[in-house]
Amino acid sequence: FVPKRLAGRKVVLTAGPTFEAIDPVRGITNISSGKMGYELARACVQAGAEVVLVSGPVSLPVPAGVHRVSVAGARDMREAVFAALPGADVFIGVAAVADYRPLEVAEHKMKKKDGILTLALTQNPDILADVAALPDAPFCVGFAAESQDLDAYAEGKRRKKGLPMLVGNLVQDGMGADDNVVVLYDDAGRHPLPRAPKAEVSHGIVAHLATLLAAAGR
Ligand code: C5P
Repeated sequence: FVPKRLAGRKVVLTAGPTFEAIDPVRGITNISSGKMGYELARACVQAGAEVVLVSGPVSLPVPAGVHRVSVAGARDMREAVFAALPGADVFIGVAAVADYRPLEVAEHKMKKKDGILTLALTQNPDILADVAALPDAPFCVGFAAESQDLDAYAEGKRRKKGLPMLVGNLVQDGMGADDNVVVLYDDAGRHPLPRAPKAEVSHGIVAHLATLLAAAGR
């Protein structure tokens, strides 16, 4: 039994990696299975929310009751997020968005040449920071996967992006796995959750989120 703590709420999430094209058959991407974002989307539906999941390329089935919008690059992801935002109470950025994309996308398959090939990259928009900066921003939750110094980096990101809540984890604890160990960060401090399957961790995240939403009088 899952309490319907998000009944009547609309939640928009991002999940998975983004894929930034180089040419029609190549691209750069981040490593992300999408499991955490998909489990969190499922947990939000179970808590009674209307859920839009903007997803980069992953091979996961769409959880029951979730409306999935499939995208590739960070700019497509940003556009789909902003299209889904009207009426949203909560935005959760779980996606591993590529920070950079190739400056130019070749129309045709690039041919092999001798020597060094240099790829010019340009910065992608920060979807979460952009949503959090909106005057009528929904309640924004970020994720931070770090390989060291979790507390300092995670809390630093939460403050820099102006987020009321952030979920941090060490990449060695959760990447690609079915289990995860996370720490929740908010204005009151750090709240570690026990190691558990991502489905269970998701219910812990939703419970904390619902408590903060209610405390904020939203
Ligand atoms: O700074 P970093 O990329 O580690 O921040 C992670 C958080 O920001 C995640 O919630 C991620 O989904 C979000 N993000 C984003 N757009 C980016 C980069 C990160 O929405 N371009």
